[in-house]
Amino acid sequence: MCGIVGYLGSQSAVPILLNCLKQLEYRGYDSAGIAILNGDDLTVAKSAGKISFLENMLQEEGIPESHVGIGHTRWATQVRPTDLNSPPDTGCTSNFAVVHNGIIENYQAIKEWLQKEGHSFVSETDAEVLPHLVEHFYQGDLETAVLEVINRVEGSYAMMVFTHKEPRKLVAARKDSPLIMGLGEKEYFLASDIPAILSYTRQAYILEDGEVAVLKPEGAYILDWKGLPVDKAIFKVEWDAAAAEKAGYDHFMRKEMHEQPRALKDTLSSRISLDNRYVQLNEVSLTPQQIKDFTRIKMVGCGTAYHAGIVGKYLIEKLVRIPVEVDIASEFRYRDPLLDERTLVVVISQSGETADTLAALREAKRKGARVLAVTNVVGSSISREADDVLYTWAGPEIAVASTKAYTTQLICMYLLGLYLAQVRRTLSEEEIATMITHLRQLPQQVQMILNREQQIKKLAETYTRSELENIFFIGRGLDYAVAMEGSLKLKEITYIHAEAYAAGELKHGTFALIEEGFPIIALGTQESLLEKTVNNVKELKARGATVIGLALKGDTQLQECVDEIIYLPRTHNDLTSILAVIPLQLLAYYAAVTRGTNVDQPRNLTKAVTVE
Ligand code: AGP
Repeated sequence: MCGIVGYLGSQSAVPILLNCLKQLEYRGYDSAGIAILNGDDLTVAKSAGKISFLENMLQEEGIPESHVGIGHTRWATQVRPTDLNSPPDTGCTSNFAVVHNGIIENYQAIKEWLQKEGHSFVSETDAEVLPHLVEHFYQGDLETAVLEVINRVEGSYAMMVFTHKEPRKLVAARKDSPLIMGLGEKEYFLASDIPAILSYTRQAYILEDGEVAVLKPEGAYILDWKGLPVDKAIFKVEWDAAAAEKAGYDHFMRKEMHEQPRALKDTLSSRISLDNRYVQLNEVSLTPQQIKDFTRIKMVGCGTAYHAGIVGKYLIEKLVRIPVEVDIASEFRYRDPLLDERTLVVVISQSGETADTLAALREAKRKGARVLAVTNVVGSSISREADDVLYTWAGPEIAVASTKAYTTQLICMYLLGLYLAQVRRTLSEEEIATMITHLRQLPQQVQMILNREQQIKKLAETYTRSELENIFFIGRGLDYAVAMEGSLKLKEITYIHAEAYAAGELKHGTFALIEEGFPIIALGTQESLLEKTVNNVKELKARGATVIGLALKGDTQLQECVDEIIYLPRTHNDLTSILAVIPLQLLAYYAAVTRGTNVDQPRNLTKAVTVE
């Protein structure tokens, strides 16, 4: 993370690389660097902080003349944003420079192997294994070495590499992380995102997984992972720069919803052992004894983050058999909560800057509790003040309505639950392995739901027109927790009054509001509770409600009593929340589009609530 760029051509590379990187600044980053060929030397300039810092550094030293180079703005995920950890990375001999977006899942094993082979490492990053690997396999041809490397690394990557041994060549490769090649007049650009190159060209090749791009002054070509040539159509970028930041999507929210499969995979990947048998939270410094000594857990957050905490409660209580309470941060901070050193407080915050959540964290620490933060922003106040941090690797979230941050928070809840269960031995090894198998499938299953967004669009167009004023979301157990998030999503971007109810609670008052045509979204993914939910839906139907059901594939019970049904792929029953929320996000999004509201910046709201 977060943006990588490359250039090969007749113009001066440094200003182009810096300009391309600046076009990606909106995505957020905490360190930046470039590597260029300066005569016969491979020169690297990098630092923690902003591009302007790097620019000043280069200006002070005199910008070297160069026609090939790579650059990176990195948003640190696994490591601290220091000068040493800043990109680009070079191997032992400084003959090769690499920039990399993504996560190398098996980097630890590769690093150990390379160390035995005599390689020494200077940073804590996973990316640093790449130049060392290239160095190891290089036998006079860079593209061959890169092919060797990509056949050995696991995880996600968009990488660019060059060497002064072949000064007229730049090679790039991708898997599960975007990469494009821009085509200019006898010059070529590489970038992780189209906006980076728009001021130079509107023609590009979009690389697919497993493809390798080779750029030379006399021409560029693309190979597959076996080294065979790939014929590609040129993609003509028709969008303006602002639209390009959204990668062709109409809104950041839609882009971010579609980024979820990648974000989920990144958040999961290196936290699961390569044999898929156990969870490894290397970044969490809690000892097994401390984990065994906890007598309770408190989840604290605001809005969507609070909703993620509610899913965490259901799950962790079930898997770990430890009491979990969930608090809204603005309540928690003032209610003199009961806390001690045997309490684990989990603060959840996308931005890591929400004032109430930060105050709750401080209150928890003041009372001697151990604080674990789940956040998306490295270096945020919450990440700095917590005892431990579990990052959601969602990448920058720009739309006010949180989508990918929520689903990656849920992944962290699952990982935390399994980790605690592992240490406290409340689940067997087989049970953990089974859940991990299902966890691994979630990104692809989310993609399957996103692929069917037209169905949700139609439902939104039919049921959420401007005359709609009220809507209820109902569910039981984990479905109730997701119903809360679905209703928040809808209300914040469409301004429709939406409420979530535990399905069994309706008859204690809310039924009085139900009349002919009253719209209800009924979630029925919890199999042990399905019969009960179906009964509640029948009661609603008897009072004239219009019901859209959400059920697992193969269900007939709910489908038979609702007006419309949305099916989800089947997964472990404790993991359905992550799938169930996707149609609700899409529904809110298309309802907002139908009603013409400001999707990305709804009225009266701001992305990070840094004041009380
Ligand atoms: C979600 O769609 C909202 N915009 C909002 O509820 C948000 O989740 C809340 O303000 C908490 O923000 P944080 O995760 O950055 O702390």
